[in-house]
Amino acid sequence: MNEPAGAKPTRFLRDYRAPAWRIDEVELDIDLDAAATIVHARLALRQEDAAAPLELDAEALELLELRVDGRMLDAGEFTQGEGRLVVHGARGPLVLESRVRIAPERNTALQGLYLSGTREHGFLLTQCEAEGFRRITPFLDRSDVLARYTVTLRAERARYPVLLANGNADGAGELDGGRHWARFVDPHPKPSYLFALVAGRLESIERAFVTAEGRRVRLVIHAEADAIARCGWAMQCVEHAMRWDEQRFGRCYDLDAFHVVATHDFTMGAMENKGLNIFNAKYLLADPVNATDDDHRHVLAVVGHEYFHNWSGNRVTCRDWFQLCLKEGLTVYREQEFESDLASRTLRRIEDVRLLWRAQFSEDAGPLAHPVRPDRYSEINNFYTATVYEKGAEIVRMLAVVLGRDGFRSGLDLYFARHDGHAATIEDFLAALGDANGVDLSPWLAWYEQAGTPQLRASGRHDAARRCYELTLEQHTAPTPGQPHKRALPIPVAVALFDRAGRALPLRLDGEAGGSATSERVLLLAADAATFRFVDVDEPPTPSLLRGFSAPVRLVQDTPPQALAAIARHESDGFNRWFASDALVRRLFAQALAHGEPDATLFSAWIGCVAGALDESGVDPALVAEMLTVADAGALADGLDEIDPEAVYQARTRVETGLALALAAPLARRHAALGDIDDLAVDPPTQARRRLRNACLAALCRADVAHAPLARAQYERARNLTDRLAALGALLSMRDATAGAALADFATRHAGDALVLDKWFALQAGEPDPRACDRVASLLAHPAFRWSNPNNVYALLGAFALRNPRAFHRADGDGYRLVADAIVRLDALTPQVAARLATAFGAWRRYEPVRRALMHRELERMLGRDRLSPDLADILGRSLAGD
Ligand code: PHE
Ligand code: ZN
Repeated sequence: MNEPAGAKPTRFLRDYRAPAWRIDEVELDIDLDAAATIVHARLALRQEDAAAPLELDAEALELLELRVDGRMLDAGEFTQGEGRLVVHGARGPLVLESRVRIAPERNTALQGLYLSGTREHGFLLTQCEAEGFRRITPFLDRSDVLARYTVTLRAERARYPVLLANGNADGAGELDGGRHWARFVDPHPKPSYLFALVAGRLESIERAFVTAEGRRVRLVIHAEADAIARCGWAMQCVEHAMRWDEQRFGRCYDLDAFHVVATHDFTMGAMENKGLNIFNAKYLLADPVNATDDDHRHVLAVVGHEYFHNWSGNRVTCRDWFQLCLKEGLTVYREQEFESDLASRTLRRIEDVRLLWRAQFSEDAGPLAHPVRPDRYSEINNFYTATVYEKGAEIVRMLAVVLGRDGFRSGLDLYFARHDGHAATIEDFLAALGDANGVDLSPWLAWYEQAGTPQLRASGRHDAARRCYELTLEQHTAPTPGQPHKRALPIPVAVALFDRAGRALPLRLDGEAGGSATSERVLLLAADAATFRFVDVDEPPTPSLLRGFSAPVRLVQDTPPQALAAIARHESDGFNRWFASDALVRRLFAQALAHGEPDATLFSAWIGCVAGALDESGVDPALVAEMLTVADAGALADGLDEIDPEAVYQARTRVETGLALALAAPLARRHAALGDIDDLAVDPPTQARRRLRNACLAALCRADVAHAPLARAQYERARNLTDRLAALGALLSMRDATAGAALADFATRHAGDALVLDKWFALQAGEPDPRACDRVASLLAHPAFRWSNPNNVYALLGAFALRNPRAFHRADGDGYRLVADAIVRLDALTPQVAARLATAFGAWRRYEPVRRALMHRELERMLGRDRLSPDLADILGRSLAGD
């Protein structure tokens, strides 16, 4: 495939070569200033390949001076261009010194050194993953070059009172002219993408922590003055994360201080820079009045995620960017376990599976499909995807299930011990896990190398005469770009069988000796198909398959609806109850899409099990809330050959409204019974009750506008953001007469609070109504919306293009035009954000002909612009490939 104009050349995993030069020590002296920062670097370089020229990465910087072993080079001794700096005739070892000038305040790409906020009130910070360090200083900017850093920062004291970099503080002092300095030494060798500095007027909160190894650590969270009061929750999360990683995985912190900084200008969630994590404020600031319950859980998860990277990512890093999932898949898995242990395991698993279905399966079904470990890329920024992160975590989860808790732990212990201080690969990871357990895990590499979602077909047969139950499992993976033929993968399928009374049967496979039988078995399907025979089964059982979602596959089962309903009612595990109920929803949706109405028997089976859960005491309210929440349109459209978004919307609404109407009475009862909830508490049980009460409210309002007073009253009385937003959402979806006034009230109440206003933007952009398109167009001119702020862009345009299929896919193409224009505009500012938004067009071939043509036209139009960023050119090129 040829790259479109503007794209970088494709890199291939098979071309990997160990670095020809290495850097052992780095000394940086940085004179900070928003308009012009001077970076002086001193690199101790070693040559490993005598024939290799010295080529450094260097982008968007003005080279002032270059020296080798103290001698200044003149112009003929090096060449600079196309992102490289080549020093002619260099022979190692040598000391290379460079002096460059950069302009942080003009850096809207938000990679390298940039300004957060305004020149008067902002602060300076860096973002280096994946290839941002080369915008700070010429370097071997690749993750397998690990060096020790000493960093000295200098700046005007009044404007930049706080100076931070990775590692331990190593002195500070005053300079002439109102300036000051601070030095940091990071004793741990690290790749350049983990470098960070922060400078500015920041407030902080601090706690002391003693690790299990006895190290005293300062925990410090820094934020701008108006945000520091909202950092308390995050601090608790840091403490929990540190303790949890010690207890669950034996991992301790390894520096004297752990700094966390919040910024409003960030392209992603957060960044795990060594000892100096930088967070998008959205994932750090939380209190009940200004953040929702979900925000609180997200802060917990992301704080954990970044902290856990200190081992899975920093101490053991990635050999190259093809191995991105090595750190991300493992760290997402660790984050999932952390949240599961501290908050609700059932809820986290349901959310992960919903996300996988909505974002990853659909990615796998379109032109942007790629393996968890891609074998090629043009722009690495575009591979921070649901596939690398979420499917990557699912693979780790499967390995954890197969090896068992202790086996997985000893495998990870060996992995960390073997590769500490080094850059590793997926093969290294599998080898360590396998060696620690005396098993060969190499078949699992196929999960990393093969794109596409496997389909798992399950069919069961009871043989009364032989008292056995035969379960046949078959797998099939459809071709994806560049991979026409698929191999069979090892698929762990967790199974339980229930009898008519809802009791789990002891499971014994044919040929196994007697003794204690467990009620769950993990069957490993290692070939295209296999049949498993359970013996001593007297009556036809009800199977519960893929328990806990034991593999990231699309399950197709012949289980009759009554059996699914029985599982949704009686499964011993909450997640599996939801999973069965979700399977029923999918069948109902398919019927509504095909025939206009779902089948009445199936429908009442589903209603029966949701009603049962609503009235059942002792069941987790969060689970009931999830059973009341129909899968979103994106998840339901997965698997359709040709998508008509309007038809999907109508069919989904029929199912959703049907539920609300059928359950009006029990919903009202439960809603009333949940009446009194501590408004300002955010402990998991309280959050769960609030979640259910708001799910009941949403359903009641869907059933009958007569319930509007409930929503209005809740809006008026709400003391926390969760309840206020839920009420506002209900008013909006009913088109209640007071909705406009409530929207205006909300904006006034939270004026000046960027994070809360983002929710206000997202709510309006996400309204499943074609008119949302016009609303988004006018909100682009709202004073609180800034094109240069990624959170604003994701809240308004992301919510519209990626989460509101009915409006984005308006049949007249206005939604497409609006978003394509925005993408072009953003591309000149923040290419990473433009490229992410452009993925909304990726699945264009899966839509009905009219939309397909309209989407295609916008893709072509964007591609036809000159001066596309490599990021956007890559997404557009791959979306249109084969066209
Ligand atoms: N490495 C970050 C994480 O997942 C994500 C990130 C990537 C942030 C690139 C910024 C830039 O924790
Ligand atoms: Zn990560």
